[in-house]
Amino acid sequence: MGCCYVVISIFLCFSLAPCYLTFVASIDVGGNLHKNGKITTLSRSTPLLFTQRNKFPDDMSDTISHYAMLHTELGKAYGLRAEMSIWGSQNQEYSQESGAAIQIYCQYEGKYSLIEAGFHVSPSLYHNRDVRFFTYSTKDTKSPGCYNLQCTGFVPASGAALLPGQAVAPQSSYGEADRYIRLSLNKDPNSKDWVLYRHDLDAPSLLGHFPGELCPGTLQIQALSGFVNYLRNTQGPPMGSGHFPDDEDDKTCAYFKHVKIYDSKGHAWDPITTHMIPLVDKPDCYNETDFTVIINKGYIFYYGGPSGCIG
Ligand SMILES: *[C@@H]1O[C@H](CO)[C@@H](O)[C@H](O)[C@H]1NC(C)=O
Repeated sequence: MGCCYVVISIFLCFSLAPCYLTFVASIDVGGNLHKNGKITTLSRSTPLLFTQRNKFPDDMSDTISHYAMLHTELGKAYGLRAEMSIWGSQNQEYSQESGAAIQIYCQYEGKYSLIEAGFHVSPSLYHNRDVRFFTYSTKDTKSPGCYNLQCTGFVPASGAALLPGQAVAPQSSYGEADRYIRLSLNKDPNSKDWVLYRHDLDAPSLLGHFPGELCPGTLQIQALSGFVNYLRNTQGPPMGSGHFPDDEDDKTCAYFKHVKIYDSKGHAWDPITTHMIPLVDKPDCYNETDFTVIINKGYIFYYGGPSGCIG
């Protein structure tokens, strides 16, 4: 507890301006503040894409999970890259989580494991509403997994430009400026590990990797997802900018843009021939636009919704 406070410099890019540097003081690293077990952390549900949607196993019946995503069909997958907009969530309650991630679901022996990386606001994990870079893995999407460095999972690179649990700033500002970070998660053709890179700095920057054994088997589904988790009998937090994506405007809607898909050799391509399937489980609360291609934005979709979702 309380061992890991450091001053960390953070780069974040404007989509219209060059990268710049801010300093954020006293950031807790690792998201391990609740190690003593006294604080109830929201148990994380993962979308059960492949079984009965909206039906959660008993041990997660307290948590409601919604998502607005695009995913590939089950098959051999080698990774995704996207620019992910960064949105804060000022009124988010303690037990609510809201975020966006690149996800790889790995099918093996009748189960799906999941590895993912992205950005979220999760007061129960960090005790504030900062937007944090996070990683997550679970060996079975029906069981709770772990965030950041809570368990053996994601392995940060030394000197990484973002550490799991690290706050990122500044955030997008509604109607004024959108800010994003470009991440990729792909299977390294040599090591077979899933490597995570950041691409919006001067040069691609290795953030770390998920060891290959966390994603066993040869069939995967890969997804780009906005998601929320919250306690049953409460109302949902905002997703993305807290607005429906009707405007299709970078400054008012959360997005995944310049979406690329990796091949087995580790090269990224426009997903021209890849079937990306939209999946929104509660469109009256959280919705997404069609996946389209726009000049200067590449392959893109917008997603999001306001707080107050019931059920
Ligand atoms: C969700 O978005 C789709 C595609 O943009 C749209 O056709 C649909 O009407 C929206 N659904 C709701 C409930 O707003």
